[in-house]
Amino acid sequence: NGAADASAAAPSGLASPTPRQPFVIGVCGGTASGKTTVCDMIIQQLHDHRVVLVSQDSFYRGLTEEESEHVEEYNFDHPDAFDTDQLLECMGKLKSGQSVNIPIYDFKNHRRCSESFRKVNVSDVIILEGILVFHDQRVRDLMDMKIFVDTDADIRLARRIRRDTVERGRDVLSVLEQYADVIIPRGGDNHVAIDLIAQHIRTKLGQHDLCKLYPNVCVVQTTFQI
Ligand code: ADP
Ligand code: C5P
Repeated sequence: NGAADASAAAPSGLASPTPRQPFVIGVCGGTASGKTTVCDMIIQQLHDHRVVLVSQDSFYRGLTEEESEHVEEYNFDHPDAFDTDQLLECMGKLKSGQSVNIPIYDFKNHRRCSESFRKVNVSDVIILEGILVFHDQRVRDLMDMKIFVDTDADIRLARRIRRDTVERGRDVLSVLEQYADVIIPRGGDNHVAIDLIAQHIRTKLGQHDLCKLYPNVCVVQTTFQI
């Protein structure tokens, strides 16, 4: 391992050099893109090294009582949903060779388990995975290598529906409600999608104006997907 190699190379009679810092890999990607699966596979291949996996999900803030009452309005895909300062503290300790206790997050209750932690020991490689691990400059600065896991949105949605209904206590409707209304494949090349969206926005604006003119007339809201 890296630390052992470094001390073995120290000339006799001299103080041992500082052990090599762990190599940090950031793995980012959309929900259910396969981040955890990819990390597990990398860890299996590196079986002759000490590798630890840290998930950004572990640092989700627990919801307050008030937030729990309106959970359907809470945005779990926003950077503020995570306690990034705590993540930085844990990563900093791991990087400097200290073991840490990482919170355990309960997706079913949107809370952290108050009594138990996962102890993560010193390692040669730290893999940090999560949907927003490339968002904060301070977190990016910890990384020696960045990997993005890219999987089509429709495949991710299918996987997420299955996983969240089986493992995370959700129903299909709640998963769909957290999802985007419209997905545009091929970005700016997809002129048809952009025309349809512009048309839809115009229709919405027209309905909005109608509502202002005739507030007693109810206009039914619709959503559409391409
Ligand atoms: P992420 O960490 O990005 O949310 P996971 O690796 O946890 O993604 O995968 C999400 C779900 O999709 C899991 O239930 C996992 O078993 C499943 N999954 C991951 N990769 C594949 C694959 N290549 N084929 C089929 N299912 C997969
Ligand atoms: O494992 P994955 O990367 O998919 O986890 C992140 C996803 O979990 C986010 O897209 C977020 O919307 C969802 N999430 C949730 N409920 C929570 C916490 C996160 O649905 N309590």
